[in-house]
Amino acid sequence: TKIGVLISGSGTNLQSLIDNTRNGHINGKIEVVISNKKDAYGLKRAENNGIDSLYINRKEFDSDLEFNRKIIEELKKRNIELVVLAGYLKILSHEFVREYKNRIINIHPSLIPSFCGKGYYGKKVHQAVLEYGVKVTGATVHFVDEGTDTGPIILQKTVNVDTNDTVETLQKKVLKIEHEILPEAVKLYCDRKLKIKGRKVEVSVSS
Ligand code: GRF
Repeated sequence: TKIGVLISGSGTNLQSLIDNTRNGHINGKIEVVISNKKDAYGLKRAENNGIDSLYINRKEFDSDLEFNRKIIEELKKRNIELVVLAGYLKILSHEFVREYKNRIINIHPSLIPSFCGKGYYGKKVHQAVLEYGVKVTGATVHFVDEGTDTGPIILQKTVNVDTNDTVETLQKKVLKIEHEILPEAVKLYCDRKLKIKGRKVEVSVSS
């Protein structure tokens, strides 16, 4: 499977995908990494691994729609079959989501439907988790639909919230499991083991 990865930041989730495609765990190849941020360290990670990396500057376009069309153009050029949002902090246009229906996977650092949607990204998620006082949090991998963090859930994994946890210690714990479940979900996709039934995702266990 030809994979395109969209990033906005450090790219530690991208790194886990690079490692897991390189070692053959995932039956797929990352053909391109696209960032909306010029200084995203994830672009360096791609270059260091001989992967095509592009910075696309939103300011060079008249609208979000045109900006998204440029990204689609770059993905089409490379016959990308699966798009992975790995710490990508912009909303996709409805056109983009339709173009890649059920072929866009996102990772979110909470147990959706808690602490997600507009405004809940990065550290803000862990801030809200601590403020609410929940005892478990975690990460969610899901297919992207027209909403924000609302698509069919593929995998989730939990971490305990301890009384002395801070945003930093929580983010570290959650990132660790993000780096486990994102590659796992991409592997299942590439192995054609994910079946979408309405809002639900069934993982086929057939060998
Ligand atoms: C992190 O907040 C992570 O939880 C979320 O995106 C942000 C950046 O992750 N998925 P990364 O290190 O750029 O993959």
